[in-house]
Amino acid sequence: MSTASGYRNPTEVNMSQMVLPCHANHRGELGVGQLLKWIDTAACLSAERHAGCPCVTASVDDIYFEQTISVGQVVNLKAKVNRAFNSSMEVGIKVCYEDLYSGKQWKVCQAYATFVAQGDGTGKVKLKMFTPQTEEEKTEYSIAAERRRMRLIHTDIIKDLLVKSTIQDERDPKDGAIGEVPAEVTRVESVELALPPHANHQENTFGGQIMAWMENVATIAASRLCHAHPTLKTIEMFHFRGPSQVGDRLLLKAIVNNAFKNSMEVGVCVEAYGQQGEVSRRHVNSAFMTFVVYDDKNQPCTLPCIKPEPGDGERRYREASARKKIRLDRKYVISLKQSEVPLSVPWDPSNQVYLSYNNVSSLKILVAKSNWILATEIDKVRLYTLEEDHILSFRVEMTLDIDARQAFLLLSDLTRRHEWDPHYIKCELLQQVDQDEMIYHVVISTRSAENKLIDFILLASRRTPCAVGDPYVIACRSVTLPTHPETEKYTRGETLCAGFCIWPDINEQTRISYYNQFTPGFVPVITTNIAGLSSDFHTTFHSCEMFLEKNKDDISVGIKNL
Ligand code: COA
Ligand code: ADP
Repeated sequence: MSTASGYRNPTEVNMSQMVLPCHANHRGELGVGQLLKWIDTAACLSAERHAGCPCVTASVDDIYFEQTISVGQVVNLKAKVNRAFNSSMEVGIKVCYEDLYSGKQWKVCQAYATFVAQGDGTGKVKLKMFTPQTEEEKTEYSIAAERRRMRLIHTDIIKDLLVKSTIQDERDPKDGAIGEVPAEVTRVESVELALPPHANHQENTFGGQIMAWMENVATIAASRLCHAHPTLKTIEMFHFRGPSQVGDRLLLKAIVNNAFKNSMEVGVCVEAYGQQGEVSRRHVNSAFMTFVVYDDKNQPCTLPCIKPEPGDGERRYREASARKKIRLDRKYVISLKQSEVPLSVPWDPSNQVYLSYNNVSSLKILVAKSNWILATEIDKVRLYTLEEDHILSFRVEMTLDIDARQAFLLLSDLTRRHEWDPHYIKCELLQQVDQDEMIYHVVISTRSAENKLIDFILLASRRTPCAVGDPYVIACRSVTLPTHPETEKYTRGETLCAGFCIWPDINEQTRISYYNQFTPGFVPVITTNIAGLSSDFHTTFHSCEMFLEKNKDDISVGIKNL
């Protein structure tokens, strides 16, 4: 849809579908398989609009379904390219349903799919850049780089967490659980022949079609456990490992991996083989889906326990428990609105990747805001403010003659901040999680209402640019660490979002912006600055400039850091 200024995203694709009985299950609700086909089609058309050539689905990120849709209602899908990388693009898809009688719309789900341009088959396609125009597009563009990072490490992260998982093999007796069902009875094996209507004109099977077939076998497996019609709540990342063509036989296998009190995890695996037979099967996709069963009053039913098969079954049973924990952490950290997440989220290996994502994306959202107001400027150091949802944020900005990467390396080492920021009394590195994630204990000179110094446990996540035009980012947010609880000596402070964005500019000029979102205790300090009554921000930033100037040629910083 076009904005007030008449702008319309050139990659936007809208699709509206009336839900007919042929799309519905026995309860008269739209089958998720059909919805996945529409999602994939709308997203593919959007990707192809940008690429100008055929595209295939590489992956679809986790999807949470918030609503079911009934026959007679209208499904509205809106897809647009958020960002083009090299040969791949991220497409964002929003799905709503509309009640034609009341005219009301409800959100069903949101999905992010990655498509890879196929070109003419002579080599990797280099896509043209997508240039975001509106604030929303700029935010999505910026966060898409962070989502891509998470996507590409997803398999390794999950593997690593499953190996480290301490979840026991014991099966907890569930309150009111009705017996124990051997997993074997839920096993489904089904074959599909990929025909021309299932494929694009280059004969590649549509990702949406494969997802729909996967959902079909998963639903059958889930039904075999509960002897009822289950409702699909979440799908974990679909990753299409390899292509499938018209003529392929697709072997779909599903089984209930584990059943919890009200939900169960079903795993599905897809392999492809040709006419010659099953000798050389290709692994196309594996996915995990969570189902619940509702009774007549729309309350979730208690599910029977699963008795896994020895060997792989036992392993999948344990891994399903670990994935449940990861899923809940992810939902908690990512899916909730920023204002609903408690300021200090506990740090834990299973939520590490999502907390870092949350940390960087919160800062990127703040950076992309268009309603920053210049409050004051002293000696080319500019102070901007932003007031939104009762949260006051500020940004201090200056332009320096320093290499952006060197500034990034110097500023991302918080243990050196006391060298330029007089407010930082102490900073200790508690945990070097990996090369780009650090946890620090920081003490600042500000005193609390109890007249104690304030301390923080900060997660600092740093990112180098994903492409030309991107800034270097250093994001900080509070976390809690069981090993470092609040002590008598300090008042524990919390910060939701703070950090630096460093833009490499032309002629060796670098624009450095510092952002901070204020929690109420800090407001008096900053409002004094904003009112122009103090030049504290200016003094601190000039001191920062001198620190960067002094260390601008220190090559040991780069060697130590990267
Ligand atoms: N999620 C998202 N993007 C991914 C990805 C994943 N899990 N794995 C790879 N990619 C992206 C890469 O980042 C790269 O993007 P870029 O060029 O913008 O940097 C692009 O895919 C190509 O990656 P590359 O390393 O060159 O190739 P690959 O060997 O990893 O192959 C696919 C990636 C997607 C092309 C390949 O797995 C494939 O053909 N899959 C089947 C696609 C298909 O046919 N889908 C329809 C249903 S079967
Ligand atoms: P993993 O075994 O590590 O979970 P796979 O890709 O082999 O990974 O399988 C994904 C899921 O598909 C499994 O968790 C399981 O639920 C289901 N699955 C795999 N093989 C079979 C099978 N032979 N029969 C039924 N379901 C299967």
